[in-house]
Amino acid sequence: MQMMRLPPYQHSAYSSLATWIGKSVEMAVNPLDAWSLAVRSSWGPLSTELIADCRRYLERLVMSSSTEDWQAALLRDRPAAHELYRDPDCGFVLLAHTESEGLYRPPHDHGRSWVMYAVQQGEVEMGTYARVAGPDGQHRLVKRNSVRMTAGQVQVYLPGDIHDTLCITGPAMLFRLTERDLRKEKEEHRLTRYAVKGGVWMAEAA
Ligand SMILES: [Fe+2]
Repeated sequence: MQMMRLPPYQHSAYSSLATWIGKSVEMAVNPLDAWSLAVRSSWGPLSTELIADCRRYLERLVMSSSTEDWQAALLRDRPAAHELYRDPDCGFVLLAHTESEGLYRPPHDHGRSWVMYAVQQGEVEMGTYARVAGPDGQHRLVKRNSVRMTAGQVQVYLPGDIHDTLCITGPAMLFRLTERDLRKEKEEHRLTRYAVKGGVWMAEAA
């Protein structure tokens, strides 16, 4: 497919693109190309509308046919992490992750980035936490809740949100959309990870 070059932050001009893609030419384009065009058409500063649009696009992408070459390759090779798309203008990144059954990723945030996780295959449990001050003045995590996600479901984490993941039924395939490259957030020590100390989740040293 010839990639269309859309400038970011022109939501009104391209607001009908996703509908156009979805209703008219979905069968003629690679779903990954359609997805990236749709996200670009909605892109802008974080807003309720942006999150709603991106959630809808990601749900559609993970439920697209696995007969696509790129999806068949993912399911065959099951990479621990594979970059599916990186936008040169807007900066968002889409990764595919294969998680083995029982794999647990301890609580963490994502720095300045908002993040969406979508399950393409398998079952994953995601818990959310709040960082609160204890009687001793030290901050620790309190678990708010957890949700079980199966194929087609999406979880959204806004900047500052803290979550963990546990693969319940594997191997699971997760798609992760990040507002920006998390490697840079890590390099700049903007990510916080947590570990159990004295029976509670405490921040690890950066
Ligand atoms: Fe995460």
